[in-house]
Amino acid sequence: MRIGVLTGGGDCAGLNAAIRGVVRAAGHELDRSVIGYRRGWNGVLDGDSVKLDSEAMRGALPRGGTMLGTSRSSRRLETEGAAPLVAQLERDGVDALVTIGGDGTLIAAGRLSDAGFPVIAVPKTIDNDVHGTDVCIGFDTALGVATEAVDRLHTTAESHNRIMVLEVMGRQAGHIAAGAGIAGGAAAILVPEAPFNIDAIAERLIARHHRDRNASIVVVAEGAIPDGSVEAPDTGTDEWGNRILDGMGQFVGDLLAERTGFETRTTVLGYIQRGGPPTPADRLLGSRLGARAVEVLMEGTSGCMVGVHSTGIAVPPLAEVAGRTRYLSEDQLELLDLISTAPVLTPLHTSRRWF
Ligand code: F6P
Repeated sequence: MRIGVLTGGGDCAGLNAAIRGVVRAAGHELDRSVIGYRRGWNGVLDGDSVKLDSEAMRGALPRGGTMLGTSRSSRRLETEGAAPLVAQLERDGVDALVTIGGDGTLIAAGRLSDAGFPVIAVPKTIDNDVHGTDVCIGFDTALGVATEAVDRLHTTAESHNRIMVLEVMGRQAGHIAAGAGIAGGAAAILVPEAPFNIDAIAERLIARHHRDRNASIVVVAEGAIPDGSVEAPDTGTDEWGNRILDGMGQFVGDLLAERTGFETRTTVLGYIQRGGPPTPADRLLGSRLGARAVEVLMEGTSGCMVGVHSTGIAVPPLAEVAGRTRYLSEDQLELLDLISTAPVLTPLHTSRRWF
């Protein structure tokens, strides 16, 4: 059996761990080989692929970006549909495809699956907005970068008694803004899900500084929008009809300076959130999802996504938790077996769930 793998859409940290997870899990059984398509779906359309084996995966875990390269949606894919993809995959002798990507990749993967080709999707995007999973590859790394930025802005803001506005990524959902804002102790957090009222925010910041605070951090997701209180500048739409996100942080910063009279500075964090080495959590998530994608295929399932569930807060009674140990779960032991060299024989202890 031959498995193809590609990364599509914007890059992020942890993609190489996911590719490695696919390769290691597939290599577990000698009759499964893996080829990687370069530049996302364009690589499939152009027949541009590379053989992937354990050797090719050396040093992959700490590397940011994607070793396969990636691309945004392709016009050809839009106009010609899944047929040229299926034809090329068949020419390459690929029996099933693992696609690692966000929304655009999922839509294309769905089309390929509808055309009858076995596909498993792995969710990635720093925006963390893929439906059907609690967390996407790349989010934890981006969140770490954004939280560190909030911490750093705090100390300089305090020295100057300033408002610091930090614009972070997040087109449709405010996971990075909410996460970094809460973790970093921001005074205000503006997300696309809840239109903001600039006057209410300005009033609160003034009251805060009149109390005893000498710094306020305002985290703004790039896709945040104002309510009717002010009109956002029209930044137009791109070739796909998506709103171009440009300058929401600066817009908010200018309005706050004007309304509060406080010195205000704006920082746009941008692509720093996507680059650099993945956190351990993203390496682990990539490894888990990549390996699980192969297992799911081996179980004969396709046309689905592998996702993470249950990161909510539970409230177990003390009697249930005191004196008990949470061991590695069966999933974790299976992953050890698939991804490391030492086979896991008969486990002594396991727990039911990951977390
Ligand atoms: O991948 C998601 C994302 O990082 C968004 O948060 C951001 O708006 C967009 O990608 C930027 O895309 P591009 O790489 O095409 O500039």
